[in-house]
Amino acid sequence: MILSPSLLSADVGNLAAELSALEAAGVQWAHWDVMDGRFVPNITFGQHVIRQMRPRSGLFFDVHLMIVEPETYLADFQAAGADMLVVHAEATRHLQRTLAEIRRLGMKAGVALNPATPLSALDYVLGDADMVLLMSVNPGFGGQKFLPVTYEKIRRLRRMIDERRLETLIQIDGGVTPDNTAELVRAGADVLVSGSAFFSVPPYESRRRTFEARADEALSQTL
Ligand code: DX5
Ligand code: ZN
Repeated sequence: MILSPSLLSADVGNLAAELSALEAAGVQWAHWDVMDGRFVPNITFGQHVIRQMRPRSGLFFDVHLMIVEPETYLADFQAAGADMLVVHAEATRHLQRTLAEIRRLGMKAGVALNPATPLSALDYVLGDADMVLLMSVNPGFGGQKFLPVTYEKIRRLRRMIDERRLETLIQIDGGVTPDNTAELVRAGADVLVSGSAFFSVPPYESRRRTFEARADEALSQTL
C-alpha cells in the first residue's frame, strides 16, 4: 500500500517544512489537491505553488486536478514538476486524448471518478491510465465522511484490471482513516490518500506506521 498524504490538510503556511517532515517520516508520495472553484466549490493552490515546492522535495508529486478542462494546463503542471497528473473523467471532453497527452509529456496519467460516476466510464480508456482514482467523497473539501458504497466499486474495478492483465493502480481519496484502511486494501486499493486523518495526528512517522500496519494486516489475511 502506498500512502499519499493530502497537502490540503497540511499547514500550508509552512509547506516546505511539511514536505520535509513527510519525507523524514518515510512517506514517498504527496497528494496535491488543485481546485478551481468551478469543477468543485473551492479554490486551493495551482501550478505556481507546486513549481516553488518542487526543488525542495524528493516526494512523488501526485497531482489531483479538480478543474474543468484540465487539458489546457497539462504542460504547465509538467513544467511545475508534477510526477503524475490525475484528471476527472467528468471534467475533460476527450478523456483518451488527455490521458495520452499526459503520458506524452512524460508524466504518469491518472483518471478520477466522482462517487456517482460508473466504472463504465473507464471501459475504453483503462489501458491509457497508470492509475484510477475513485473518489470516496464528493470532491471539494477535506474532512468529509467516507461513502461505504466505494468498497463494492473498488472490488469491481480490481476485477476489471485483473481480467485485462493491467498494472493500473487503484487510488482511494476521501474519508480514508486507519479504521477503514484494512477493508480498502482487502477490496483491492493500492494507493490511499489521507488528509485530515493523517495530518491531525502527528508525529507523521508513527501516523504512517499506523496506516501501514493496518494495510499489512489486511494483506496477511488475504494470503
Ligand atoms: C477532496 C480531496 C481529498 C481530500 C481528502 O476533494 O480530493 O484529497 O484532501 O481529505 P480527507 O482525507 O480529509 O477526506
Ligand atoms: Zn484529492
